[in-house]
Amino acid sequence: MERSPCLRIPRGKGDAVIRFLKDAGLYRLDLKPRQTNGTLLIPIVGLTEDAKARLGERLTEFDVVEGEFDGRSARPARISALLEAQIPSEMHPYLPRSFDLIGTVAIVELRDELAPYAELIGKAMVRVYPRVRTVLAKGGAFKGRFRVRDYVLLLGKETETVYREHGCLYHLDVAKVYFSPRLAYERMRVSSQVREGEVVLDMFAGVGPFSILIAKMHRDVRVYCADINPDAFGCLVKNILVNKVAARVTPALAEARTLIRSNFSKCFDRVVMNLPGEAVNFLDVAVRALKSGGMIHCYAFADRLNGVQKVRERIAEELGKLGRRFDLLEGREVRATAPCQFQVVQDIRVE
Ligand SMILES: C[S@@+](CC[C@H](N)C(=O)[O-])C[C@H]1O[C@@H](n2cnc3c(N)ncnc32)[C@H](O)[C@@H]1O
Repeated sequence: MERSPCLRIPRGKGDAVIRFLKDAGLYRLDLKPRQTNGTLLIPIVGLTEDAKARLGERLTEFDVVEGEFDGRSARPARISALLEAQIPSEMHPYLPRSFDLIGTVAIVELRDELAPYAELIGKAMVRVYPRVRTVLAKGGAFKGRFRVRDYVLLLGKETETVYREHGCLYHLDVAKVYFSPRLAYERMRVSSQVREGEVVLDMFAGVGPFSILIAKMHRDVRVYCADINPDAFGCLVKNILVNKVAARVTPALAEARTLIRSNFSKCFDRVVMNLPGEAVNFLDVAVRALKSGGMIHCYAFADRLNGVQKVRERIAEELGKLGRRFDLLEGREVRATAPCQFQVVQDIRVE
């Protein structure tokens, strides 16, 4: 056992908080979190005032306390610690400090300078995380209509995997569909706002992480969801079955604008629009699909400087053209997508 500062949070919030801590470099990989009296204790390196403020935006109940934790065997605590022993010191500043783990697939950001060490980095990842089978390096940003990115294979070959989030399982192929584990908190935030009896539309559903979580958390909801990527749709259908929500979720392989125009007018209590590059341009059909008093969760990309405010102004301008009264409710940064660029969300009540 080892004594360490830790976060005490309500059980059930662990996935999102651990991801936040990992992104911030504050999570202690060498110690195991543990549960006690309905709470979860997560060992941390420490908590800066800035990190505390950012965590406070995501979670209302948390304390920083001290606790005793079991170690995670003799595995190296951090990939970089292992690699620093094998790679020349001038390369150390370029070593990847964060990565995404999606089931058995690890995704790192690899600087060109490290290309000669790609295999070594892949092997280190597998040594530190034995469940990893495939290591990929990002080959650019998400792109195209399907929002899929290119990857460079560092180790292994299988890009299909199963990812668990908030108790739901998602089958997906990272090379063929969009998926980001960094949206875990956002999916829980939206899902927690849904009330029993609601009818929800997820316009850009991907493999289903918003739709399925909403249907898992609420017995009396109807969720309609669409995607244009046939591979994402295939995974969506499978995930609906695997998570046993087929009675509540109806998927469509469809273009969202066309689907709404030909089927839906004033049908939904809530519309989720997670296509940040373009969602604002779909507000006209989202509003058409929404009942009076309904809620839209609209995602967009924004610069760091006044990003949320600029997105609010852009949304207000679009909605102003439609002649419906609206209230801009919570707006927040969801995650960093590039240096100085953020994905943001704006919740909108439309009368
Ligand atoms: C950013 S991803 C989000 C996926 C999912 N909501 C999630 O959180 O993982 C956007 C998805 O929208 C789909 N898409 C893009 N344009 C679309 C359109 N016009 N109609 C329906 N789906 C679309 C893409 O194929 C992609 O799967």
